[in-house]
Amino acid sequence: MRMKACWSWLMLGAAAVGAVTPSNLIGNVSGRTTVSLNGAWHAIVDPFENGIGAGFFRDEKPRSKSDRVEYSFELSPTLNVPGDWNTQREALMFYEGPVWYRREFSYRKKPGTRTFVQFGAANYRAAAYLNGEKLGEHVGGFNPFEFEVTSQVRDGGNFLIVEVNNTRRADGVPAARFDWWSYGGLTRDVELVEVPETFIQDYWVQLSKGSQSEMSGWVQLNGAQVRQQVTLEIPEVHVREVLKPDFGGLANFRLTAKLELWSPEHPKLYDVILSSGSDTVRDQIGFRTIEVQGTKILLNGKPIFLRGISMHEEAPFRDGRAFSAEDAQTQLGWVKELGCNFVRFAHYPHNENEVRLADRMGLLVWSEIPVYWDIDWANPATLANAQAQLRDMIARDHDRAAVIFWSLSNETPVKPERLTFLKQLARDAREMDPTRLITSALNHVDDTGPSERTISDPMGDVLDVVGLNEYLGWYWGRPEDADKMQWKLNWNKPLIVSEFGGSAVAGRHGEADERWTEEYQDNLFQHQLAMIEKMPNLAGITPWVLMDFRSPARMLPGVQDYHNRKGVISNRGQRKMAFYTLQKFYRKIAESQRQ
Ligand code: GCU
Repeated sequence: MRMKACWSWLMLGAAAVGAVTPSNLIGNVSGRTTVSLNGAWHAIVDPFENGIGAGFFRDEKPRSKSDRVEYSFELSPTLNVPGDWNTQREALMFYEGPVWYRREFSYRKKPGTRTFVQFGAANYRAAAYLNGEKLGEHVGGFNPFEFEVTSQVRDGGNFLIVEVNNTRRADGVPAARFDWWSYGGLTRDVELVEVPETFIQDYWVQLSKGSQSEMSGWVQLNGAQVRQQVTLEIPEVHVREVLKPDFGGLANFRLTAKLELWSPEHPKLYDVILSSGSDTVRDQIGFRTIEVQGTKILLNGKPIFLRGISMHEEAPFRDGRAFSAEDAQTQLGWVKELGCNFVRFAHYPHNENEVRLADRMGLLVWSEIPVYWDIDWANPATLANAQAQLRDMIARDHDRAAVIFWSLSNETPVKPERLTFLKQLARDAREMDPTRLITSALNHVDDTGPSERTISDPMGDVLDVVGLNEYLGWYWGRPEDADKMQWKLNWNKPLIVSEFGGSAVAGRHGEADERWTEEYQDNLFQHQLAMIEKMPNLAGITPWVLMDFRSPARMLPGVQDYHNRKGVISNRGQRKMAFYTLQKFYRKIAESQRQ
């Protein structure tokens, strides 16, 4: 099977204008020369976006005492990068609008090399300029993007200016309403990356679909010498393959090797080395197969029950958008402590630190694009935006064994234009990656009896695995109603209960029917888990949610204080009663799976 490679070049979406589409160019693959631009950046908060007209991107300074320049990065306070601006300054907690960032750096150009500036993510729209020259724009807050700056970067002093705007838009992805904080800023690492004139742009090194020994994939070169040979090495299994790229710089391969398969119990990663000309890329890759057989999900050919939890990319203890390896270690450490083998990264692609840690820790991953609630389905620009976010999510993480699901959406309303939109995304995802499973979190159920609900959303036809969000006991009914509730599913497909839950303030105690207490949340979990165990085709669960997180939709003083309190752990690390109930449930399941 010839992998359709390098769609990223072909499908340049609306999201990246004038940009090289993201790839493993500068992901955490070692071997690349990078210069970090993280740190304190001078920043101008520009609520009326005067900066475009005033030419902030030129970073002008008064040339004489009578010169009139009405802005100054020099005199403006700094913001840390990476980081959201909302939690760095009280005055910016609710700020939505443009902020201009400036970073000065000195550089020495090296002959025969090309230079890129890479952003791990910027929420929501970003426009970048180097030394006063526009590099390009990017839309979407959760995927990496980069610009080639080989001709713009200077020897000596340089200034990089980025306008970031987190204003929500009705035609956006997500649109204007969502239940998480619209953290703005350069929220992930910013780096300069140097590569040889001809370099390894992207690669796909995975097992062929359904095979535990045959690997197939490709390597894409970028540059003038795209026909130069490529060597693929996996020393531990004595693989050394010399590949001949075609005229487009694409080298396909197929080979067999005796591999230890990656699994949560045995998250085996292999050193993989790709070299071509003077370029060498090193990566750590695991090999596993994932497929659906009837109502079962098979990992490496064996049925698996996905003991999961949903989580946001929210920093533990300090609030704000998480980005660091420490943030990831804390949160995924809690996920492991719960007894999970699976985690749902809601509702947008999380940072690479989290995905790579899941790869190393042995946590299977559900990754999702923020097609969330109701969006502008009939708008072609909104579709192109969603397609680009899907493409970029897959482009960054397609070599991660941990990632098994591409989720197209969350809780979207059943209507024809939505189905057309999501069907297109499903086609794109399957074309870009025929090896992983396509899912979505649905919440449309038919009331087919006093104690019966039928999952009938037409999206069920499109998906490999059906995700269901249900809030019996919190948004409707009482927790005890779960005892009688029967669920029906219109498809002979695996079902994941992708959300259920209720809120509790850590440390608040009372009767089990008293809202906001740990007892209420725990009681709800007890009844839910018993109900869910009886659901048809059940293949896994990801209760809502690991940790309390900031949300502008949660305003109850003294209880929510702009936090969604459905975490089984508070944002200060306090484990609630439901944490232990879920942990006990997973121990029981793991025990039964071992037998
Ligand atoms: C929804 C949604 C979440 C939200 C949760 C809640 O189902 O998917 O993003 O936070 O419910 O209401 O707490």
